[in-house]
Amino acid sequence: MHDMFRRIARRYDLLNRLLSLRQDVRWRRLTAEAARLKPGQTALDVATGTGDLAFELARRVGAEGKVVGIDFVEEMLHIARAKAARLPEGAQCVFEHADALALPFDDATFHAATIAFALRNVTDVTKCLQEMRRVVIPGGRVVVLELSKPVWPVFRQLYWVYFNRLVPLIGRALQGVDGPYRYLPESVARFPDQEELVRIMREAGLHDVGYRNLTGGIAAIHYGTV
Ligand SMILES: C[S@@+](CC[C@H](N)C(=O)[O-])C[C@H]1O[C@@H](n2cnc3c(N)ncnc32)[C@H](O)[C@@H]1O
Repeated sequence: MHDMFRRIARRYDLLNRLLSLRQDVRWRRLTAEAARLKPGQTALDVATGTGDLAFELARRVGAEGKVVGIDFVEEMLHIARAKAARLPEGAQCVFEHADALALPFDDATFHAATIAFALRNVTDVTKCLQEMRRVVIPGGRVVVLELSKPVWPVFRQLYWVYFNRLVPLIGRALQGVDGPYRYLPESVARFPDQEELVRIMREAGLHDVGYRNLTGGIAAIHYGTV
């Protein structure tokens, strides 16, 4: 997993925008909103990759706030730090090397914790959610943005053709490697659907768990309160 993300880091943003037809930008914005942060607060973005969700969170906590983005791939963090240097909201972001399954923070450190397109990739989903819950203060939110299972009937069939056939081809053409964008549809097929993820989040100790589908359920935002 680590090696796969190391190899795709350089063109990761380009592929995200292209394959989602820029929907990923809107999805991250809605995810940051769901974290319900206020100016001056602190947030953690787990498996931050190139930092896009961290920057969305930073816009909400403002100049007095702070956002920490963690990832276990240095190549991703390198790009996140370079983007932070160019963006005004980058000033309140810090990017650190860490494992999502063993977060190097004290209990109740952040007002919210988020994870985008990465819960699917960790080896222990419940452990990751428990770690996120542990580092958030009581009353704060844990928010998950993840690719999910489309619910609109006809759209769903068309989407699966695109996702299972076309995405691996485009991914291979632009990344120059075969594996990662073949792994993508397989990993979504294996990942819990919307209702099952609600159950897992409750099992991880979160309260008031709910979700909203995005673009017909291609993606979903799940949220829970600590
Ligand atoms: C598909 S990318 C998502 C990146 C970013 N959150 C986004 O919205 O674009 C998945 C990221 O999860 C990271 N990752 C996977 N497992 C991890 C773990 N156990 N600890 C830290 N980072 C992890 C990968 O390095 C990669 O950057």
